[in-house]
Amino acid sequence: MVEVGIIGGSGYTGGELLRLLAGHSGVEVACVTSRAHEGRPVHSVHPNLRRVLNLKFEAPDYERVAERCDLVFCATPHGVSMQIVPLLLESGARVIDLSGDFRFSDASVYERYYGMKHSAPDIKGVYGLPELHRKKIKRAKLVANPGCYPTAVILGIVPLLTAKVIDPTFIVADAKSGISGAGHRPREATHFPNAAESVLAYKMARHQHLPEIEQELQRFSSELRMSFVPHIVPVIRGLTATIHFQLTRSMSQEDVRELYREYYGGEPFVRVLDAGEVPRLSAVRGSNFVDIGAFSVDDERDRVVVVSAIDNLVKGASGQAVQNMNIMLGFREDEGLRSIAIHP
Ligand SMILES: NC(=O)c1ccc[n+]([C@@H]2O[C@H](COP(=O)([O-])OP(=O)(O)OC[C@H]3O[C@@H](n4cnc5c(N)ncnc54)[C@H](OP(=O)(O)O)[C@@H]3O)[C@@H](O)[C@H]2O)c1
Repeated sequence: MVEVGIIGGSGYTGGELLRLLAGHSGVEVACVTSRAHEGRPVHSVHPNLRRVLNLKFEAPDYERVAERCDLVFCATPHGVSMQIVPLLLESGARVIDLSGDFRFSDASVYERYYGMKHSAPDIKGVYGLPELHRKKIKRAKLVANPGCYPTAVILGIVPLLTAKVIDPTFIVADAKSGISGAGHRPREATHFPNAAESVLAYKMARHQHLPEIEQELQRFSSELRMSFVPHIVPVIRGLTATIHFQLTRSMSQEDVRELYREYYGGEPFVRVLDAGEVPRLSAVRGSNFVDIGAFSVDDERDRVVVVSAIDNLVKGASGQAVQNMNIMLGFREDEGLRSIAIHP
């Protein structure tokens, strides 16, 4: 058994890591930290894990965690991970960080969008999107697990962008996320009466996931310019992106779908939907799948709309982190990730 640790195990993504790793045949969670819940069993915070995991939260002691574990997940807020990851790496552990701290090749972009100074600007992670960077992830010491919106948006755009059949200067991604995307701490915008029966656009043109999406996509087209508008919707988990493109040549719905099928052929967690099907949250909730579909072509205006859907806590965070761990440690990529969405 490979021993792994989780820093920040009492939060939403930490809880999902525990749930998924409990079903993994090749790894054991050797330690999980929480400052607020030190000494308490994990099921006191995550009641779904009662009689599943017999573990207690520990106070974070990074050197000791690295000594006992071959690989450590940091499920900690941005600004916190940048303090912890250098200590874990120095102590010899491989690390998967779920925050935004190590996703940027240029620390000044991070500082501009996250509004804080980076304390370890020279440490770079491999961007942990397996569909694009599988080979680099395998050898990585540090994987920077992607953001939830970037996962859905990038995977929804790459096939059309690489085929060079769209105008790269005109892409609009309109995305909606469930409230768990904001973490376990209550906030004004996520307070039930404020969020229920409502939809709220936020951080328009300045969300920290926009430069992350651009960084990845500009590797395929330096001309790329896009708009990204996130919304909070009153569901607990799930994230969907509706992406608008201007075609530069005529294509049918079937042509577009075929392009996606070819691009993602063999990908274990990408499902390209059939004609007439549109991705929906309830079909991916709890699973590591990303569903991509719609491919709706307006042939009078040469526009096309693609829709992608993920569970923000699974393919958008902890499931993708386990997928990355599997690649790094040489397990089957779907080990521990075979849970199917509960529908409806
Ligand atoms: N939620 C999502 O859908 C999602 C998706 C993709 C990526 N992410 C990213 O994943 C990370 C975790 O997100 P989350 O939603 O799980 O957040 P969360 O629910 O707020 O949990 C944060 C965890 O970090 C621990 N923590 C906070 N400050 C700490 C510190 N200074 N030292 C050590 N531990 C600390 C907390 O436990 P204690 O305070 O008890 O120690 C808690 O367990 C964030 O960077 C987030 O941006 C989240």
